[in-house]
Amino acid sequence: MSEKLWGGRFEKSTDEMINDFQASINFDKRMYREDIEGSIAHAKMLAAQGIISAEDADKICAGLSKIRERIDAGEFDFSVALEDIHMNIEQALTDSIGAAGGRLHTARSRNDQVALDTHLYMRRQVREVQRLIVQLQDALVTAAEKNSDVIFPGYTHLQRAQPILFAHHLLAYFSMLQRDFDRFSGVYERADIMPLGAGALAGTTLPIDRRFVAKELEFAALYSNSLDAVSDRDYLLEFLSAASILMVHLSRLSEEIILWCSREFSFVELDDAHCTGSSMMPQKKNPDVPELVRGKAGRVIGHLMALLTTVKALPLAYNKDLQEDKEGVFDALDTVKFSLAVFAQIIAGMKVRREQMRRAVEEDFSNATDLADYLVRKNMPFRQAHAVAGKLVHHCIERGVWLKDLTLDEMRTFSNLFDADIHDAIRPETCVAARNSLGGTSPAQVAAQIQSARAWLDSHR
Ligand code: ARG
Repeated sequence: MSEKLWGGRFEKSTDEMINDFQASINFDKRMYREDIEGSIAHAKMLAAQGIISAEDADKICAGLSKIRERIDAGEFDFSVALEDIHMNIEQALTDSIGAAGGRLHTARSRNDQVALDTHLYMRRQVREVQRLIVQLQDALVTAAEKNSDVIFPGYTHLQRAQPILFAHHLLAYFSMLQRDFDRFSGVYERADIMPLGAGALAGTTLPIDRRFVAKELEFAALYSNSLDAVSDRDYLLEFLSAASILMVHLSRLSEEIILWCSREFSFVELDDAHCTGSSMMPQKKNPDVPELVRGKAGRVIGHLMALLTTVKALPLAYNKDLQEDKEGVFDALDTVKFSLAVFAQIIAGMKVRREQMRRAVEEDFSNATDLADYLVRKNMPFRQAHAVAGKLVHHCIERGVWLKDLTLDEMRTFSNLFDADIHDAIRPETCVAARNSLGGTSPAQVAAQIQSARAWLDSHR
C-alpha cells in the first residue's frame, strides 16, 4: 500500500521522480495562512452542523493554530512526498492531535480547498497591490505639485508638438493608475466568492452549511454551481490581465524616464542611489530600474498568456493542469508589487532639470499652433492660419531662427493681422495658460487635476 493520504487503493508507492514532478508544495506553501484559516472555518462549520463533535473541532482549531505558529517561526518541515500545502498541514495536524485530525477533511476535497485558499490569498494580495498603486500615485502627485510651473515640450510621434506643463504629463500617469486601481477592485470582487462546499465537483452528501463558512471568512457571495466553483480561474485571469495592463503603464513611464535621462533629452536626473554604473565605462550612470521594470512587463504578460492557454480547452471540472495557475500568478504578484514600490522611490528621488526643459520649448517651433490660433482669433479661417504659420516656420528654418526672433514687420509680410501682441501670444507661458479647456494643460486645469487627485487619494487610503 502507498503511504499517501489517498493511498488506500494503491499497491505501490509513488515513483520518486513522479512525486517531484507533481508536487506543488514548493510554491503553494505561501498560502499556508489561508489554508489554515479556511480549515478552521470548515471545522467550525462541521461542528455547528453536528457533523463532527465540538471537542474534535476545538482540537482541530487549536492544532491548526499551533501549526501556523510553527510555520511562521520557520520550524515546519515541508515534505514533497505530501505533495501540497493541504496534505502537509493535514498530516502534521493528525501527527499532533491524533484521530480528530482525520475528521478535518470531511465533506471537502482538495479541489474546493485549493480554490478557497487561492481566493483568500488573492483577496489579501489585491488589497496590497492597490495600496502600492496609491503610494505611487501619491509620489506622482507630489512631483506634480513640486514642479507645478515647469514647462516642457509635449510630444506626438516623439516630435516636439506643443508646450505643456510637466505636471500635466505626470498626472496622465495618475489617471492611468486610477483605472488600474479600479480594475483590481473588479479582481477583488471576483475573488470574493466562496467556493468551499463544492467538494470534488458535485457538492457533498453531508449536511454542510456553506453560508456559515462564507460568513466566517467574510465572503460577499457564494459560487452557485459546484462545477464552476472548482473550475473557475477567471479571477486569476482577470488579475493577470489587470497586472499586465498596469505593467504596460509602468513600462511606458519607464521608457519616458529612460529617454529623459539620456544626454539627448537631459530632462531629468535619477537619484544616485537609484542607478548603477558600468564595470568598464567610468562615466556611466544607467537607469537600470526603469529598464528592468520595462523588461518585467514582458514577463507578466507572459504569465497571462500562459494561464489563458492552460485554461482554454480544459473540460470541467478540476484537472491537474489547474495547478499551473499558481506560479505565474505568484510571480506576477511579486513583480507588480516590487515594481510599484521601486517606482514610487524613483519618482520621489527624480530631479527635474527645468532649464533644460525650458530650452526645449524656447528653441523650438512647438508654439506654431499658437501662432495659427492667434490668427484664428483675428477671424482668419483655421486652414488659412495653418498655412501662414507653416510658411513662417519654413521661413525661420531657412534663416536659422525661431518664430520669437522674427520682427513684427517681418511677420506682417505673411499676414497683416499680426499686431504688437503676437510675441507675447507665442511665449511658452502664454501657450500653456491658453490651453484652458477642460482637462487641458493650463495651470488652472492642472491645479484642478491635482486637487481632485488629492481628494481621490484621501478617500483611497
Ligand atoms: N495542488 C493542487 C492544485 O494546486 C491541489 C488540488 C489537487 N487536487 C487533486 N485532485 N489532485 O491544484
